[in-house]
Amino acid sequence: MNKQQLDLENGRAVYGHLLSYVRPYWKAFIFVLLGMAIAATMDGGFVALIKPMLDGTFVEKDPFYIKVIPLALIGIFVLRGIGGFCANYFMAWVSRHVIKDLRAEMFDKVLSLPTAFYDRQSSGKIISKLIYDVEQVAEASGRALTIIVQDSLTIIVLLSWMAYLNWQLTLLFLTIGPVMTALVVWVSKRLRRYAKRLQNSVGDVTHISQETIDAHRVVKVFGGQDYERAQFEKANEYNRRQYMKIISTNSASVPIVELMAALLLAAIIYLATQPHMQETVTVGTFMSFISAMLMLFPPIKRMTTLNVILQRGIAAAQSIFSFLQENSEVDTGSKSVARVQGAVEFKNIHMQYDQSKGPVLRNINLNVQAGESIALVGRSGSGKSSLVSLLPRFYLPSGGEILLDGMNVGDIKLSDMRAQISLVSQDVTLFNDSVRHNIAYGRLEDTPDEKIIAAAKAAHAWEFIEQLPEGLDTQVGEHGLLLSGGQRQRLAIARAILKDSPILILDEATSALDTESERFIQAALDNLMQNRTTFMIAHRLSTIEKADRIIVLDKGEIIEIGSHRELLEKNGHYAKLHSLQFSALTTEQ
Ligand SMILES: Nc1ncnc2c1ncn2[C@@H]1O[C@H](COP(=O)(O)OP(=O)(O)O)[C@@H](O)[C@H]1O
Ligand SMILES: [Mg+2]
Repeated sequence: MNKQQLDLENGRAVYGHLLSYVRPYWKAFIFVLLGMAIAATMDGGFVALIKPMLDGTFVEKDPFYIKVIPLALIGIFVLRGIGGFCANYFMAWVSRHVIKDLRAEMFDKVLSLPTAFYDRQSSGKIISKLIYDVEQVAEASGRALTIIVQDSLTIIVLLSWMAYLNWQLTLLFLTIGPVMTALVVWVSKRLRRYAKRLQNSVGDVTHISQETIDAHRVVKVFGGQDYERAQFEKANEYNRRQYMKIISTNSASVPIVELMAALLLAAIIYLATQPHMQETVTVGTFMSFISAMLMLFPPIKRMTTLNVILQRGIAAAQSIFSFLQENSEVDTGSKSVARVQGAVEFKNIHMQYDQSKGPVLRNINLNVQAGESIALVGRSGSGKSSLVSLLPRFYLPSGGEILLDGMNVGDIKLSDMRAQISLVSQDVTLFNDSVRHNIAYGRLEDTPDEKIIAAAKAAHAWEFIEQLPEGLDTQVGEHGLLLSGGQRQRLAIARAILKDSPILILDEATSALDTESERFIQAALDNLMQNRTTFMIAHRLSTIEKADRIIVLDKGEIIEIGSHRELLEKNGHYAKLHSLQFSALTTEQ
């Protein structure tokens, strides 16, 4: 609820929300702050030690200082080390926990998003949110926190020490220091800009070269050499210029900054050696002051990048939180159903994916008996896949209702509803796991081996599984690259046979196959379809012909229904499709 109200445009709110992920780890967080405070104070302690170190030991040769200073020096660095360790270790501890929590929440979201979301967003985008944006948020917040706490503390401590040593010198530093900082900031901004352009221009050079190499035939035949050369020259020259800008900025800025530092130092030396100052400014004071000044620059420089870092963190956090705010799939059903008979009725179904694009299904009325096999045919884009995707409720119809054994599918619990359906589609996704787990997937996980083997046999998959080096335990490899298309298809069919659900959807399950594996798969599918309500979308005539009824869809409407024989006799749309396909098939072979 809290999340739903989060205003993503409000950077402060986004950071506030991010903090709520840190809250469970607040105890470790205290160690982070403590560590930072110790580290900052010890920086001050070190420069403070320089004064007695020089004045007490070298100048005055005081035996107390001679004994104590080395010990104090060791003490300071021990403490500083402990502080630094605490800050780094616990910061990483907290941020890795936050990263893990964010990823877990995002992965849960991935599992619960509606199908329509995946139509809109590429998988690459979602994965990059999960991997890259999460990492960015943690990194940016960590760095921002270090700057806000440790660097500002260091600056305060060092400046105070300088003011305590000598306020006139401090005042001098405070007038010249900011000018130097501004210069450094300006230079690094310029460098960043050029570096980015340089990077882009390298990309252009690569891109043009690659295009020309890949398209060398086209370039030759169409005489594109001059054009390509001119394009390349442009990118090549641009690349050279950007590089020179970086070099000139860098080469000019380094001596300028060094000169300014020398000016500052000269001014301080001049002022410190004035007669009225010589009383108070000892060697120790001077060196301590200079050391503090030098130690000030790095945190000040980081300070100036704070805004950029915060913005980057907010952008990444916005991307993550907007993803987490996506609506999950809604489960409207409350009815528990064990196993249905499998009678399906489509009543006045209308469907549209996109308001602007018009309906993809209109007036679909179809009553399917339990155990009946229905073939859906029609031109590509006529709505076959859309119609069957309504059954597992991947999408919701915009009008009408679907009844399963007389119950409105919207009233049945989503998981129970989906438990009634098996799906085999054109592209089979195998999981990076063993053959066993690819067949006995999800809720089937604990199936005993005999059943898995029986399913594999019925799917005509056992023939090749037996041949695999480790049988059922063979790892299929990422995306199932180890197996051929036909073998993968048979694993998917075995999975469906094992699920043994009353309803079966075959969406072009055989279209990507060669004729050799098709024979096996056809036999496997025949096994699978027995005693099930089946909806199949297929090009192959043999599959379609055997169906109890054939539904011909055109532009989202049912235009013919009947058996193969009836529809041929009718000599309508199906007969035309049939003869077209038949001639295509005969010419193909
Ligand atoms: N996920 C989707 N989002 C938006 N439009 C879609 C989507 N899937 C299909 N369509 C559109 O719906 C229409 C029917 O497509 P589809 O059901 O896939 O047809 P078929 O399976 O018969 O080839 C087509 O115009 C297609 O462009
Ligand atoms: Mg389709």
